[in-house]
Amino acid sequence: MCGIVAAVAQRQVAPILLEGLSRLEYRGYDSCGLCTVNQHEFTCLKTVEKVTALKAMVQKQGCPGTTGIAHTRWATHGEPSVTNAHPHIIGDLALVHNGIIENFAELKNALIAEGYEFKSQTDTEVLLAEIHFLAVKKGLPLKTAFAKALRNVKGSYAIALVDRKNPETLLCARQGSPFVIGLGIEENFVASDVLALLPVTHRFIYPEEGSIAEITVSSVKVFDLNLNERKTEICESDLDAESISKGKYRHFMQKEIFEQPQALEHTSLGRICDGTVDLSSVRGFTADFLKNIENIKIVACGTSYHAGLVGKYWFEELAGISSSVEIASEYRYRKAVVKPHSLFITISQSGETADTLASLRLAQNQGYEASLCICNVAASSLVRESDYAMLTRAGAEIGVASTKAFTTQLLCLLLLSTYLGTVQKKINDTQCNEICNAISELPNAASEVLECDHRIALLAERFAGKHHCLFLGRGIMYPIALEGALKLKEISYIHAEGYAAGELKHGPIALIDENMPVVVVAPDNELLGKLESNIEEVRARGGKLFVFSQGKTNLKSDSQTEIIALPASNPVLHPILFTLPLQLLAYYCALINGTDVDQPRNLAKSVTVE
Ligand code: G6P
Repeated sequence: MCGIVAAVAQRQVAPILLEGLSRLEYRGYDSCGLCTVNQHEFTCLKTVEKVTALKAMVQKQGCPGTTGIAHTRWATHGEPSVTNAHPHIIGDLALVHNGIIENFAELKNALIAEGYEFKSQTDTEVLLAEIHFLAVKKGLPLKTAFAKALRNVKGSYAIALVDRKNPETLLCARQGSPFVIGLGIEENFVASDVLALLPVTHRFIYPEEGSIAEITVSSVKVFDLNLNERKTEICESDLDAESISKGKYRHFMQKEIFEQPQALEHTSLGRICDGTVDLSSVRGFTADFLKNIENIKIVACGTSYHAGLVGKYWFEELAGISSSVEIASEYRYRKAVVKPHSLFITISQSGETADTLASLRLAQNQGYEASLCICNVAASSLVRESDYAMLTRAGAEIGVASTKAFTTQLLCLLLLSTYLGTVQKKINDTQCNEICNAISELPNAASEVLECDHRIALLAERFAGKHHCLFLGRGIMYPIALEGALKLKEISYIHAEGYAAGELKHGPIALIDENMPVVVVAPDNELLGKLESNIEEVRARGGKLFVFSQGKTNLKSDSQTEIIALPASNPVLHPILFTLPLQLLAYYCALINGTDVDQPRNLAKSVTVE
């Protein structure tokens, strides 16, 4: 979702801002812009095209200045247009904003009454006008006006403001939306995430919620919204700038699919020890970690929600703990009944998803025993605000469609449920040993499955020209069918639905014809026979089937049915391993449809507004 970058330096900042914006492109956006200050004059350039177009504009027209702010916008208030793109300027002030000002209509009416006119339809311009009003019309010092305006707004924001009369100072703030401060030598920066700033620094400050930062070339001061100074901690990032390059791959998504064996290895590193699960690396871990847990509530969004659905099967089967899973945007607005000894788990790649974070904050006052997050970003708000944090260690994920983050989330859930199973004595040492051995074999098993790459590329051609597709699975493979469908629709724009195969007869069977491919995930498990009956129901109605199996099925490939056999594996690994060919299928269908694989239309990687 929207990205901000800002810099105050002794060198020209336009190249730094543009590089930062290209590194934030993965978050998803529909327009972009930047504004620099030179000799107390603004140069502001904006476009509804990609960052490369903005770079070309800068090259052609020039964008001089040693202070500047820049933005990628994902439209919330007002269509994607040059007028609505950020930065917004009123008088001597320019602002970029990520988030939503919820009381913007009310503020706007009051400001119109004070004589303000608005060029754009954005809530951001209203926030800027509020700051301008307090600073210029009410005569408050800019920092005081900035803080007062922020106390007057409701909603979420990460913002950066520059005053062309005093370009030596950047004012920034965050509430509900992320930003980091990057520390250079005689230059300092701000961005929505560290990836944007890796070429210029590895030293970061992560301001808390409700922080204001005053930044010059030589100093960084952080305050609360009442301007009381806050202590800050400097953290070194171990990510390198190369971690977000495509390497030999055509797309980030393709690279991330093939990185999964290595990512899964990192996830389990140090967490399997002598045939048992060791979770001492979980932040907050103590000797009686989760000993009294009797219920689990899992809350997440998108692909992470699907991981949660798989987790429910494992928590109940391996640990005998009653579990339920909810979509965060639903959970946060209903009155949940919390049973005693309940653990609240959030799952998130970014750790900044607004609804998931809001659910965590709500849960903190609902009587849960503890909160635990499974997350890929160590410095994220979710990690910082949860009692326990288990990192997925997938490495930076840039493609909007989540791949390696999902399979590493699954592995964390498997480790956690196995751990709880042993603590709660639901599985014995032999069963625990067997699962640990399977997990140790997972990276190789994943590499072996990925060898089906070429076969899937050919298979995808059979989806050319199709507009609808059904994914079926049963039991723990049902959420994998949901995830397969989500991947396909996200990046190829083929309408796809995931269904529990047993539900087929209750509706979707009416849709079956030769134009709607049906993809089935059919590993060798106790439900295979039941699934085969469902497959026959589809065959009997002329449906075209693509069945991912492990060769044990009674079905034979024929003109109606294509069987894709994957290597045999331990059943606990099925959800992870069967996800891989579905990711590849979505990827190759997207290539055939010529869509933007890494930045699909309308989607954002990190959904920081609700
Ligand atoms: C967006 C992304 C998805 C992701 C979801 C939840 O929709 O495009 O890939 O699954 O947000 O994000 P999170 O960072 O919380 O896992």
